[in-house]
Amino acid sequence: MGDFTVRLDETFQNIKLIKSYCREEYEISRAKVIIDKFLAIFKKAAYVESAASPIMEILGGLAVAIVIFYGGVQAINGETTSGAFVSFIAALLLAYKPLKALSKLNALMQEGLAASRRLFMMLDVEPESKIDETQAITDLKMYNIKFSNVFFSYKLGQNILNGINIDIKQGQTIALVGGSGVGKTTVLNLLQRLYNVSSGDICIGGININDIRLDVLRKNIAF
Ligand SMILES: Nc1ncnc2c1ncn2[C@@H]1O[C@H](COP(=O)(O)OP(=O)(O)O)[C@@H](O)[C@H]1O
Ligand SMILES: [Mg+2]
Repeated sequence: MGDFTVRLDETFQNIKLIKSYCREEYEISRAKVIIDKFLAIFKKAAYVESAASPIMEILGGLAVAIVIFYGGVQAINGETTSGAFVSFIAALLLAYKPLKALSKLNALMQEGLAASRRLFMMLDVEPESKIDETQAITDLKMYNIKFSNVFFSYKLGQNILNGINIDIKQGQTIALVGGSGVGKTTVLNLLQRLYNVSSGDICIGGININDIRLDVLRKNIAF
């Protein structure tokens, strides 16, 4: 479900791009894959649910029948009184409904667990800055940008930037040129501290961006 909403969100937000590249069919087929997967899961759930109920009914009915038979035989033979037998049956029938509800508990718990897993994923996200912002620099006077030997990876072991060095003088206009996915946006993400470098330094006006207060840094950057 999460995948599906993410995909739809992406698609609708970028609808102009999709149209201008004539990618409608492709996007529809991507959505279809997820919907089909969904359908399969829902079908399976429906099967299990609809099978569980009759099976429980049959087993419950059988149990009651056995008890009546056994108790009946005992009552006839005079081993129990018929009063005790009837009150036992009444108690059994009263217990039947709560027991049935218990069988639905597992499905409910599974749904709850799936939802809480997503919730805890959000709660486990580290807060953006662990740096002491009260110590941080709050005014920038020079704006030359320097990347020194910057390494970065989004996922461990998959380096996107390998020892990047960039030196941009104040007032200079620079174009980052490269194929899709080489890391141009990543460079800009690092400059705003949306992510932290794995190693190396990024400085603005000779000040490491880690020492600049986050809101000051970002107010000085237009995207
Ligand atoms: N948030 C992210 N998590 C994991 N990988 C990412 C993320 N953003 C980008 N990437 C990967 O990093 C690489 C560089 O991406 P990006 O900087 O967006 O490239 P560009 O802007 O040059 O097209 C790509 O291989 C992309 O798949
Ligand atoms: Mg990009």
